[in-house]
Amino acid sequence: MSNVVSSNHDGDSEKFLTPVASALRDSGYIVLDGVFQTEALQLLLIDIKNRSSDEFHVAGVGRSQGYQKNPFVRRDRICWLSETTPQAAFYFKWMKALQQKLNQNFFLGLNDFECHYAHYPKGAFYKKHLDAFKDKTSRRVTTILYLNPAWSPDNGGELIIYEKDSEQILEKVEPFFGRMVIFLSEDFPHEVLPVNKSRYSLTGWFRNDGQPVVS
Ligand code: OGA
Ligand code: MN
Repeated sequence: MSNVVSSNHDGDSEKFLTPVASALRDSGYIVLDGVFQTEALQLLLIDIKNRSSDEFHVAGVGRSQGYQKNPFVRRDRICWLSETTPQAAFYFKWMKALQQKLNQNFFLGLNDFECHYAHYPKGAFYKKHLDAFKDKTSRRVTTILYLNPAWSPDNGGELIIYEKDSEQILEKVEPFFGRMVIFLSEDFPHEVLPVNKSRYSLTGWFRNDGQPVVS
């Protein structure tokens, strides 16, 4: 894999901010391992698993009038997360620091962040898509944090990142525990291959208009 930054956690999550900003400028995406402490991530995973199934709903595609649930496109279940969730405080803090860094470096004008837990039950997938379309939405940067301990390659569920307007695969990412993927939302079509085992993540987007998305 190219574009992968790995580090043993030494308590300094903020040291990753500069590599993220540089990668978004140079190639538009990055895969990071070891940003957050294992204990914090374990509590986050417990929070996902403790939520009842009615807090999770079938995810949809499209926005506003075009919004629909389409089981041929995606089969994950999502649960929007609020900043008041104590188990996620460390995550929101880091995302705020990243927002500031990206605004300082690129003048992206990011002024909002939204995120949801995602659960892909066995058999679930998400077909190739873009998280944002130029002029139609204000999602600018996608962040995905994976929460799958002891994930093995035969569980499937890889994230495939494609080159823009092409079938060329840029990266095949295993959803390992604590791994994070960050990319420019408008530039990278991607898909999640079918999973053979429950797959958990926390997915977030930086926006630049402050309008909530329906999903
Ligand atoms: C999404 C998405 C990818 C992943 O939620 O839009 O593409 O690896 N997720 O979970
Ligand atoms: Mn996506």
